[in-house]
Amino acid sequence: MDRSIHIAVMTTEVVKALSPHNGGSYIDATLGGGTHAASLLESSAPDGRVLSFDVDLMALERAHERFRPFGNRWTGVEANFRDIERVAGEYGFAPADGILLDLGVSSDELIDPAKGLSFQVAGPLDMRLGPKANIKGLTAAEIVNTWSADDLEQILRDDGEERFAKRITSYLVERRRTKPFSTTLDLAEAVRNAVPRSYERGRIHPATRTFQALRIVVNDEVASLREVIDAARQILVPGGVIVVVSFHSLEDRIVKQAFKAALDLDPLTKRPVVPTETEVNRNPRARSAKLRAAVKIDEQMILKSNSNKCKQKSNIWVTPTPFP
Ligand SMILES: C[S@@+](CC[C@H](N)C(=O)[O-])C[C@H]1O[C@@H](n2cnc3c(N)ncnc32)[C@H](O)[C@@H]1O
Repeated sequence: MDRSIHIAVMTTEVVKALSPHNGGSYIDATLGGGTHAASLLESSAPDGRVLSFDVDLMALERAHERFRPFGNRWTGVEANFRDIERVAGEYGFAPADGILLDLGVSSDELIDPAKGLSFQVAGPLDMRLGPKANIKGLTAAEIVNTWSADDLEQILRDDGEERFAKRITSYLVERRRTKPFSTTLDLAEAVRNAVPRSYERGRIHPATRTFQALRIVVNDEVASLREVIDAARQILVPGGVIVVVSFHSLEDRIVKQAFKAALDLDPLTKRPVVPTETEVNRNPRARSAKLRAAVKIDEQMILKSNSNKCKQKSNIWVTPTPFP
């Protein structure tokens, strides 16, 4: 099995926020290339444990080799993070001292032609990360070729935040009449033709947002994210921290609102933490990353609070130095 080529983002900041300790139990809800998980194991040595989730079996297979030296301190499981409460219970990780979600896809998945995730890599128009991410078997090709124009336009606008959603949809619907879409490059080319020339000169490829929207829908990412934050709160120990790294504004908004709405979570990051310039230069994929962290507060604390939302500061709970 090949080694992972994925470069994890903001590893120092992730570890700082979770401040792992010896003997602690940590959930890495998105294994990917395994760098964050390895950092959590190293910083909770000699006895800290990490449970890693991924919906992609390939990520887990790669990781087994990498984590062999950690023995039974590391466990990998093919599971969707939306099932975190049940799975953490089954593996003895509830309560947990810290939970990490590093959202989106890994570079290993992006370059895998079979997954069909990239507008730069020739492959089938699929986008399924794995059976646990997509129980209904929906593919990107099915959406593009069979969904109504209204539904297609809506996901491009809502999930892709694509300002040319209407134009792209009209183009795709017209084109699919004569030749249904079956490959990534075919779709990428059609989107490029659908948008104004000026869009092409922008910072991102014209098909970026269309591909983002399709991937989000195929893997039910919005619902999974909402569910996991809710469930994570139930299994964190008071003083435990949840960290979420997101890569686009839709995700970041969901995280920000979920942290704010939860009575038993106190945000550690007023504004999201972003990577340093040095990191972005080294790893351009990091440029859109945003990290938010929140600490679990217990019932007593909520009851003591007069306001609706408990405003107590997290460092009462011994956890990390709050971010700026
Ligand atoms: C950005 S990568 C994580 C990188 C990782 N933190 C590292 O250190 O290399 C995101 C990973 O999350 C996985 N993933 C996406 N949605 C998931 C879900 N709902 N449940 C579990 N894993 C998921 C993807 O398959 C991918 O491997």
